[in-house]
Amino acid sequence: MIIREEQPFDYAEVYELVKAAFEHSSHSDGTEADYLNALRNKDAFIPELSLVAEHAGQIVGQIVLYNTCVTTQDGPFAALVLSPISVRPDYFRRGVASAMMKSAFEIAQGLGYTAVFLCGEPDFYRKFGFIPSFEYGVYHISDETKSADWCMALELSPGALKGIQGSVDIV
Ligand SMILES: CC(C)(COP(=O)(O)OP(=O)(O)OC[C@H]1O[C@@H](n2cnc3c(N)ncnc32)[C@H](O)[C@@H]1OP(=O)(O)O)[C@@H](O)C(=O)NCCC(=O)NCCS
Repeated sequence: MIIREEQPFDYAEVYELVKAAFEHSSHSDGTEADYLNALRNKDAFIPELSLVAEHAGQIVGQIVLYNTCVTTQDGPFAALVLSPISVRPDYFRRGVASAMMKSAFEIAQGLGYTAVFLCGEPDFYRKFGFIPSFEYGVYHISDETKSADWCMALELSPGALKGIQGSVDIV
């Protein structure tokens, strides 16, 4: 398996993969593939951080990290959002997602990013070092409880989120 930057000629295959993957998710609203198509046209999109996993000439996974800002009293703090990540269902539980995250985080570190946020399944993302973002003092804008475990954060540089208090807006 190789992990490489997504190219425009991959978009149709990736669209079908995202659709098929999210049919297996209880949290899906069925819009993830269209969301990714729209995301590629936004300023927040970072081509170097849109990766695909390829095996035997076919795409078996995709991951995207894009630009966001934590809104703090001292101004915006630059970070990334991980969304979406999908694996072709016949490749589930074979380490594809783990390998894509490792590659994406290494590239992100190389580009100077220090933190990643996401909304997702806590039990899954804890395996990769994510913890609920409220533990750092960063809250999802819709989280009135200030204790949502589904809004999660990962420091790419140890201590990056120390002293960062604010809110993050993730769709
Ligand atoms: C979630 C998803 C990306 C995982 O991909 P994957 O390639 O099967 O994951 P991996 O094989 O790398 O598994 C990594 C770890 O997570 C675990 N895991 C895999 N799928 C999981 C799930 N749905 N829930 C909880 N843990 C899961 C694996 O057992 C493994 O744990 P281990 O390291 O302790 O053995 C894939 O199931 C998928 O595309 N699902 C549909 C789309 C989706 O839900 N995306 C995430 C949105 S939040």
